[in-house]
Amino acid sequence: MSVGYVSVQWNRHKRIYDACVAGGIVLYLGVFFAAGKALYTGRNAISGEILAMRALATCAFLMLNVILCIGPLARLDRRFLPLLYNRRHLGVATFLVALAHAAIAIGFYHGFGNVNPFVALLTSNTNFTSLSAFPYQTLGLFALLILFLMAATSHDFWLKNLGAPAWKRLHMLVYIAYGLLVMHVALGILQTQRSPWLASLVGVGVVIVATLHLIAGQRERRHDERGSQLSPRAGEEWVDVGAVDDIADQRGSTVTVGAGERIALFRYNGCVSATTNVCAHQGGPLGEGKIIDGCITCPWHGWQYRPADGRSPPPFAEKIHTYRVRVVGRRIQVDPTPLPPGTAVEPARVEEVQSA
Ligand code: HEM
Ligand code: FES
Repeated sequence: MSVGYVSVQWNRHKRIYDACVAGGIVLYLGVFFAAGKALYTGRNAISGEILAMRALATCAFLMLNVILCIGPLARLDRRFLPLLYNRRHLGVATFLVALAHAAIAIGFYHGFGNVNPFVALLTSNTNFTSLSAFPYQTLGLFALLILFLMAATSHDFWLKNLGAPAWKRLHMLVYIAYGLLVMHVALGILQTQRSPWLASLVGVGVVIVATLHLIAGQRERRHDERGSQLSPRAGEEWVDVGAVDDIADQRGSTVTVGAGERIALFRYNGCVSATTNVCAHQGGPLGEGKIIDGCITCPWHGWQYRPADGRSPPPFAEKIHTYRVRVVGRRIQVDPTPLPPGTAVEPARVEEVQSA
């Protein structure tokens, strides 16, 4: 949460996560290097530089695939949410590993001539019209620039200064970087005449990333379609959005009313409140969060809002839209007109059914 900008704080979980990422990278590189040395011997032996370049390249590409899978996985199953919570650190680590790969590649392939290695990288191959001789390294360079832009702006300072929509659009460039890298690897394989195993692995990665996005997108669409059938009857402002008992205590749920924005409903301490589903931080789905310490807690990075007025608890100053809500029988009804961010709304009282 932020006053001016106060970034998401470091905590024990983040440190453990970062240690796991660093350990995983070192383990992957070590195993790749050792296996490469053991498997390629004699006439097939590969130099240390090339082996290191390939180890770093495949590690970064694998990490990018994992990053792209985390979003849809977290939408499909809440157990993946902790990965989403820490995804930015994984992104920065991916950039650093990719940078190491690029640095070795530039030094090894362009560092021994009279021309500046960066100039050589951009000018040594200009066969842009040939598929089999395409300057695939240039594609890697553009992808690396995008990863740099994302890593450099990953801090909450930039989120606050650019604004969430612009920041999000900038970070959507990751899909362009991914496309460039698939071409970088595919065209590189064509030119270096590597065995087809790498191409197959890249293909499998693309299929997994695309399939997960399609499944998660379809699920969201079905949810929105169900919601578009929820509309106020003529002359009425209230819409029936479901039963109180469909929401577990201290939990949220999401509804879409008409073509409007998604609304998050929360049940807590014998009350129901409704707010926008969109977190003020990075648009995280609040309805998938929980009530912790009396506050709606975003599942992505833990920003908090009071359910009754949509305001972050002091000293924080974020505000989100709230909605008028009432409970009739055990059905929840919402007025789908959003109230200005931070507007206090009396929570609807629910008679808790006592279990025998
Ligand atoms: C300036 C930027 C880059 C340059 C100059 C560059 C250069 C190269 C070169 C020369 C190769 C062929 C290596 C060989 O097998 O002999 C290669 C392969 C590869 N690159 Fe890059 N690259 C760049 C950026 C990236 C980035 C950002 C990524 C991914 C995150 C990446 C991922 C890969 C992968 C996965 C391979 C295939 C590795 C293999 O053959 O085992 N590259 N790159
Ligand atoms: S806390 Fe980051 S999106 Fe909600």
